[in-house]
Amino acid sequence: MEVVIEGKRRIKGEVVPPPDKSISHRSVMIGAIAEGTTEVERFLFADDCLRTVDCFRKMGIEIEFKGHDSVTVKGKGLRGLRKPEGELYAGNSGTTMRLLAGILAGQDFEAVVSGDESLSKRPMGRVVEPLRLMGARIEGRDGGRFAPLTIRGGRLKGIHYELPVASAQVKSALLLAGLYAEGETVVVERQKTRDHTEIMLKEFGGKISSNDGLVRVTPVEKLFARKVVVPGDISSAAFFMVAAAIGENSELLIKDVGLNPTRTGIIDVLREMGCTVEIQNEKTISGEKVGDVLVRGNGLCGVVIDGKIMPRLIDEIPAIAVAAAFAQGETVIKDAGELRVKESDRIKSIVWNLKKLGTEVEEFEDGLLIRGGRKLRPSDMESFGDHRIAMAMAVAAMSIPGQSRIKNAECVDISFPSFFETLNRISEPF
Ligand code: S3P
Repeated sequence: MEVVIEGKRRIKGEVVPPPDKSISHRSVMIGAIAEGTTEVERFLFADDCLRTVDCFRKMGIEIEFKGHDSVTVKGKGLRGLRKPEGELYAGNSGTTMRLLAGILAGQDFEAVVSGDESLSKRPMGRVVEPLRLMGARIEGRDGGRFAPLTIRGGRLKGIHYELPVASAQVKSALLLAGLYAEGETVVVERQKTRDHTEIMLKEFGGKISSNDGLVRVTPVEKLFARKVVVPGDISSAAFFMVAAAIGENSELLIKDVGLNPTRTGIIDVLREMGCTVEIQNEKTISGEKVGDVLVRGNGLCGVVIDGKIMPRLIDEIPAIAVAAAFAQGETVIKDAGELRVKESDRIKSIVWNLKKLGTEVEEFEDGLLIRGGRKLRPSDMESFGDHRIAMAMAVAAMSIPGQSRIKNAECVDISFPSFFETLNRISEPF
């Protein structure tokens, strides 16, 4: 699918972003291994999360869709999953494959997890190695570095493991496997990553604690079903934040956004770039912070983004790169090597598209430099099959007078199926 975008400038009004992808995945996974029925309100009906639903249905879990945005998961307890017939297919979803690997490591049956072309190229050794240390038998392409993975779980033992890369998916896989291990599992993080698994496990009665970079889990006999209300996804909201931040005289209220501090790096960066971002109506729902975010565009300047903030905004770099192209001065993004192993090589995808628009960009192994503030031209852009690249470039195109195109834009369905309609609704012609 090719999407044509007529450059417009003002972004006005109110928007509710789609439900959080990370939390939606976890609600099905943790709901499936809890006792009783978990009701999930505002579940994300998008391709990635539907892959997780399919995988658990194949393991005998009843999952019902209710209305347009809720699901119920009939949990069967920690030992209630059954051996699937055929492969479990994770599609494009790294979260499905890596977290599922953790749960499968604790089961006493063998299962195969496969993915699409992009997921089959993404590194799996980062979960396979520590799960093997816990006692799981896992095989995969190239010695277990890539999917498909064949996982034969069994008697696991707790380990003390320092994450070599900052990854919430790896941390979560180990914590979920830790539910089935003998003794305590300790995951050491040098940089704090999103803690949705810890929050949800605690809500469901798990024994889990987090202190000073050490996350500890010990097995419990049972997890108990809970109602989960999923907040809006700040990673989807980020595209609208940037659209408003770069639009002249723009003002946008984004409602019910998840504001977990491990995810709010985008707000810190936009403020540092000179944008007004106000938080209103803060509350805590299902253990997660939620609030409304008001963004007012009034001109941006370049910034340096590196080090510890990176895990707090890693998925937002495509959107931030677009903000940087419209900002005055240089923006430097470093310590972001993880971008090379996302749904596409995001450093390459961003550089390719921004150059087409007429931005001066330099590529580094672990980041990029963007010289902002130049007059940009409408162009034909490429998603590289990556949802966040398609959305970021659509936001850029919205602010450049003239007609741009985004090729292979159907990938927005991975996380935000109604993205283009929503973007059109909140933008006004010059
Ligand atoms: C996610 C963790 C991050 C993030 C991904 C979702 C999660 O990946 O980029 O979109 O739900 O735990 P890594 O763990 O690979 O950093």
